[in-house]
Amino acid sequence: MGIGATAGAAAIGGIALTANAATDTSATSTDLVFDPDAYTKLTTTVTDTEGTEHAVTYRFWKAITYVSKPVDATYQSLIVSAPVEIDGTAVDASDAPILLANSVGGYMPSSVADATGVGAGGMGGGAPGGGTPGGAPTGSAAPTAAASAAPGANGNTNANGGATSSNQLLALAAGYVVIEPGARGRTLKNSSGEYYGTAPAAIVDLKAAVRYIKANKGRIPGDVERIVSAGTSAGGALSALLGASGDSPLYDRLLEEIGAADASDAIFAVGAWCPITDLEHADGAYEWNWGGNALSTGKKVDQAVSKELRAQFAEYQASLKLRGLNGFGTLTARNYDAYLVKQYLEPSATRYLAALPDSAHDAYLAENTFITWKNGKAGFTWADFLSHIGARKKNAPAFDAFDLSAGENNLFGAGTTANRHFTAYSAKNDTTGLSTRRVASDLPAKLDRMNPMHHLVEKVNGSRSRHWWIRLGTNDTDTSHVVSANLAAAAARLGDDVNHLYYWDQGHGANTDPGDFITWIAKVTGYKRAAKTTKTK
Ligand code: DHB
Repeated sequence: MGIGATAGAAAIGGIALTANAATDTSATSTDLVFDPDAYTKLTTTVTDTEGTEHAVTYRFWKAITYVSKPVDATYQSLIVSAPVEIDGTAVDASDAPILLANSVGGYMPSSVADATGVGAGGMGGGAPGGGTPGGAPTGSAAPTAAASAAPGANGNTNANGGATSSNQLLALAAGYVVIEPGARGRTLKNSSGEYYGTAPAAIVDLKAAVRYIKANKGRIPGDVERIVSAGTSAGGALSALLGASGDSPLYDRLLEEIGAADASDAIFAVGAWCPITDLEHADGAYEWNWGGNALSTGKKVDQAVSKELRAQFAEYQASLKLRGLNGFGTLTARNYDAYLVKQYLEPSATRYLAALPDSAHDAYLAENTFITWKNGKAGFTWADFLSHIGARKKNAPAFDAFDLSAGENNLFGAGTTANRHFTAYSAKNDTTGLSTRRVASDLPAKLDRMNPMHHLVEKVNGSRSRHWWIRLGTNDTDTSHVVSANLAAAAARLGDDVNHLYYWDQGHGANTDPGDFITWIAKVTGYKRAAKTTKTK
């Protein structure tokens, strides 16, 4: 199928003119009033998850700046796509759910400024930099038209990566409105050498995008009370954070500074794939999970460091006092392995194996003898699961690197300082000689603004999303498996509706059930597409 939307032979004269006129001005328009007429009509073909093709005609609004005082409109802009005809039948998307699909990857900048159709977001970002050698920023990243997230590295940017079933395309073919916001990212640097996209810029931008949408209720297509956010990895973290922190006053001043619209920024539901979040606790969680696994070089990480970090995790996990789903007791560093195996990993392997044809099923079990198959269920130990995964991706500490080389060190940079420590432990163990060996005083507040757990655990936010779709590949060693599981447990403890599965043998960025996500959106929003009875030409 082609994601390359083709401009329809621009139907309605007046509209086409408006759209053309908007070409030059849209990026600088600052009145924050959405112009319902400033669209072009495009067509695309979407192949659904069953392999059926759908012809979709949609209205497309190219980059609109969503704040009145943009720091950089290249990033602080969004695109809107609203279906008008699906498989020859006219559809009315004015009350449809809105999929708010960010394309942030690696906490890098993401831009839709040059997007020419749905699913085109995410330029300029995507390279995960965290914890890997060479993960340090290399300076200001200008968006380039050709740049895109790495294929498969970001579920929302499947469209960029060339995969056929992105969330955006499937949503459009289901009759939903798709809005794709850009956002500032960590590597952006102005001419004075100041970083202007480090934390919490990206979440402030996404909130401003939501405020823009809500302020334009009745003008912008879709039901602004049914915004479902989606993102993967850093974008998944921001998606979860957007849902957790809706209308939190913590961001008011920052939103005011950029001229965000005066409206709510609460959203209805969250889709988060492999969220790289809870960053200030992620080093400990990583060692708890992958501490015994060697790097791909075969080398083990510093075991003394790993052990200290694991102890920190035990303390943190105890402080959360979270209970596992399905009646599992309080989650601790001692029982979390059993919890992951029972709640997520065995069911994941079971689903995977049950869906295989008999011969493939048998072959898989013959190759993976650590799995027992009994009464239609997979069984294995945590230790065997860890061996099955093999190499860990990141060094220790994974996120706040002693040498400031992790992408997250840059995420918490400020002013002209590219990289900073954000945990006391790594600040103390800094090896760069640059550090004061203390976490800077502005960081605790920034960490709260970047962490969904803050809004679900420390300060329970009554305006949060109540519906959570969380997904993670079992082979994903970009962060600890407990990060998503804790997010799910924290939301569930508050009585929220949580749908969290792990994809068996899938790596970072996987989204292997996008069709189910689209169905889930209909379920949680209660939306039923009312096809118009008249056929359009
Ligand atoms: C992403 C991956 C990482 O390993 C990380 O630390 C941060 C972000 C990403 O793919 O977005």
